[in-house]
Amino acid sequence: MKRRTLKYRINWQNVWKKMRSERIRKPKIIYDKDFQIKSTEDFSNRCKWNNYEFGRTVVDILGDILDKGFEILEIGPGPGTLTIPLSEKVRKITCIEASKVNLQILKRNLKEERAKNVKLINEYWERAEIENRFDLVVCSHFLWMVDDLEKHLERMEQFSDRYCVIVQPCGRDEIVKKAFEEICNEKYTGQFEPDADYFAYVILREWSRTLNVRHFKYSFELNLEEGIRYIAGFLGKFIEVNEEVADKIRNFLIEEVGESWVVKNKAVVMWWETEK
Ligand SMILES: C[S@@+](CC[C@H](N)C(=O)[O-])C[C@H]1O[C@@H](n2cnc3c(N)ncnc32)[C@H](O)[C@@H]1O
Repeated sequence: MKRRTLKYRINWQNVWKKMRSERIRKPKIIYDKDFQIKSTEDFSNRCKWNNYEFGRTVVDILGDILDKGFEILEIGPGPGTLTIPLSEKVRKITCIEASKVNLQILKRNLKEERAKNVKLINEYWERAEIENRFDLVVCSHFLWMVDDLEKHLERMEQFSDRYCVIVQPCGRDEIVKKAFEEICNEKYTGQFEPDADYFAYVILREWSRTLNVRHFKYSFELNLEEGIRYIAGFLGKFIEVNEEVADKIRNFLIEEVGESWVVKNKAVVMWWETEK
């Protein structure tokens, strides 16, 4: 792939490392022994909310470049957030998913939606053996999983004949920030901001890629227990979430939103043509 060498470069590497060490650390949650499995199902329910609103919006945004004949490589599909809406618009999708649990959920969701043009590979993307190249390579809500961001972007381009696409949530619902401040007794100083798209943008522009960037708003509804888990997953990276803290989250949510919470977030879609 063609690259340019810049005289002056932004030193983003240290910030990436520090933010990843906060983001990726396993949350300390002891108030419910089934927290992990329930959260995984919550994630699937969120992506299915409003008939895959998030994924459908991405597919609409990519409308001009998608073609019915496309073969797509998707990295880290999770429950099928994007896979399922995309499968209706293209010939075939190959997915590389590391987690067996997520793969089972994805299989169930694909069956529910009668999507038959999706091939699943249970492997880590970094070490998956991929034989062919694709019209489009995409990862959605995946960048924080990556230790070496440059290698990841390079590998995306390596397997793409035409387009690469990054989809990434950016920003955080104000209620989560408020819960952090009230319950951790600490000012929210943008712990998880800017979001990962910022880093990818800097790298790709250094490489001279011209990116198309579109932001969109999306939402999903959580009942009280799901809402507690959603906030606990964030707070647990900073404090231990025991029954007392879970109760504080419950009381906070009842006061702020009642029994049902419509979370409002933003996301970004960035796409570019690969340069040979
Ligand atoms: C945050 S979820 C995003 C799921 C979905 N793409 C979406 O937009 O909602 C990240 C997914 O990537 C998977 N994953 C994490 N690291 C991976 C890796 N190195 N290779 C393949 N899959 C990975 C996780 O198991 C999970 O299903």
